[in-house]
Amino acid sequence: MQCCKTVRAAEPQDLDAAFMIEIESFENPYPRWYFDLLYGLSGGKYFLVSTNDRDEITGYIIGIPLSGNVCHIASIAVAKQCRRKGVGTALLHSLLELCSADGYTSFILEVDVYNYVAQRLYASNLFKPVMVATDYYGRGRHALVMILLNEIPCCI
Ligand SMILES: CC(C)(COP(=O)(O)OP(=O)(O)OC[C@H]1O[C@@H](n2cnc3c(N)ncnc32)[C@H](O)[C@@H]1OP(=O)(O)O)[C@@H](O)C(=O)NCCC(=O)NCCS
Repeated sequence: MQCCKTVRAAEPQDLDAAFMIEIESFENPYPRWYFDLLYGLSGGKYFLVSTNDRDEITGYIIGIPLSGNVCHIASIAVAKQCRRKGVGTALLHSLLELCSADGYTSFILEVDVYNYVAQRLYASNLFKPVMVATDYYGRGRHALVMILLNEIPCCI
């Protein structure tokens, strides 16, 4: 199976499938209603999904535009059976390309300090750690804040 045939903007009817991936990916997933909120905040345009050769959703990434040409990457996840096949990279590159074409020059995200897999994905795309956000995910569960400034690896 080809896990990443396309990356495209999510439609409202894709959110249930994306949410199933959220549930299998995180110990404390966002609630379903929060996905609707994030979809709205992303303007629809920056909530992307990957699809396989059967047009099933295999992953998602959510970008939220902030002021000052900054985009906040609120979440990314890939279905378990499709991991380590370049889907996460394709989603991240697609969002960075789309946002940079729209004038966004900086990206910020939070990642669990123990989530080394995701940190490797971001680091290999030139994100730099800038601070630890204490208790970001709850008491004793800290986040690493990573940023990407003015360098879009996929678009150079
Ligand atoms: C993080 C995640 C989105 C990566 O998606 P993916 O499709 O597996 O990523 P890719 O195949 O594009 O891999 C990109 C890079 O990530 C790193 N990576 C991915 N899986 C890894 C693993 N199991 N072990 C170590 N590094 C890994 C590697 O640096 C990899 O590059 P490489 O294959 O050239 O070495 C996926 O593991 C996931 O959904 N995890 C659960 C949700 C999550 O933690 N999201 C991040 C929230 S901040």
